[in-house]
Amino acid sequence: MGVVASAPAKVILFGEHFVVYGEPAIVLAIDKRAYAKAEIREDKRLFLRSQNLNLAGFFDNGNFKVEEGNPKEARIKLEPLKCAVEKVLEMAKEKVGLNIEVNSTVPVAAGLGSSAAVASAVAAAVGALLNVKMSRENVFRIAFEAEKIMHGTPSGVDPAISTFGGTLLFQMDTGFKPIDVKMDIPLVIGNTGVERSTRVQVAKVRSLRDKYPQIIESMMHTAREIVLRAVEALKGGDLETLGELMTINHALLYGLGVSDESLEWLINAARKAGALGVKLTGAGGGGCMIAIANTDRLEKVLEAVQRAGGNAFIARKTDEGVRIEPS
Ligand code: PMV
Repeated sequence: MGVVASAPAKVILFGEHFVVYGEPAIVLAIDKRAYAKAEIREDKRLFLRSQNLNLAGFFDNGNFKVEEGNPKEARIKLEPLKCAVEKVLEMAKEKVGLNIEVNSTVPVAAGLGSSAAVASAVAAAVGALLNVKMSRENVFRIAFEAEKIMHGTPSGVDPAISTFGGTLLFQMDTGFKPIDVKMDIPLVIGNTGVERSTRVQVAKVRSLRDKYPQIIESMMHTAREIVLRAVEALKGGDLETLGELMTINHALLYGLGVSDESLEWLINAARKAGALGVKLTGAGGGGCMIAIANTDRLEKVLEAVQRAGGNAFIARKTDEGVRIEPS
């Protein structure tokens, strides 16, 4: 008798890093989802379990008791979800005990927005269970709060895309604007398996920018032009142009020093297999690359990235943001 909600993962199609300095970026929700199941408990405690992370524990009046996994890790990783649950309980003006089980098909810590997808799904599941009128705006705000606990000062892109789905144009000063994309975007996502730190990569770009302000400024300008052209290509269903723009965008990211050997290896494999466009996605320094290809080439690109050692899968854009699953 619980409620299950789900929310999608994301890839950054264009504009990562440059977005930190006010330039626009394009993010896409993909058909890999995180699921959260919420049910009422007899007592007043909150029990949280993450199947993927193999972590579980009870939150009870400020105390944490681990049930599964390393106690410190469990507390740190489950804390943002506890915060999301508490925000919904405040809205419901209720103090009930809950069991929350999360389960995700999104690779974790790979720049695909898995933590935000989980937080959105938890907020929506608890809201529906307690009959709270939750707008998507509410879900977004709660997931954003959870992300702040997890990541310090995130831009808000991940909770926005996992809540609203589709394709979003994001810019720091103007926020999110949906882009009307009718075309299918066949993607191969390749995970290098190399752990990366968004913080470290962002700091790297900052010091390069401090050293070469004029040069980086003109790269910023180019990145903006790429995004503006990409919006047109997305609206017009022009996959070929989109691919070319991705490859140019990757060259800029390479120039910023955020690609690495593991990414270049997978990127070259995808390129050789006939992808229309290839780039790293997210912070770089490991993590994931993405390739787009015509449908008849997609499997070939997938196999090439896998053969090169990537943990790769095919993904497609999804318009569906957070949703309650049928019971
Ligand atoms: O690693 P991800 O997917 O969370 O992406 C980070 C994107 C950056 O532009 C590098 C940083 C940011 O906060 O926008």
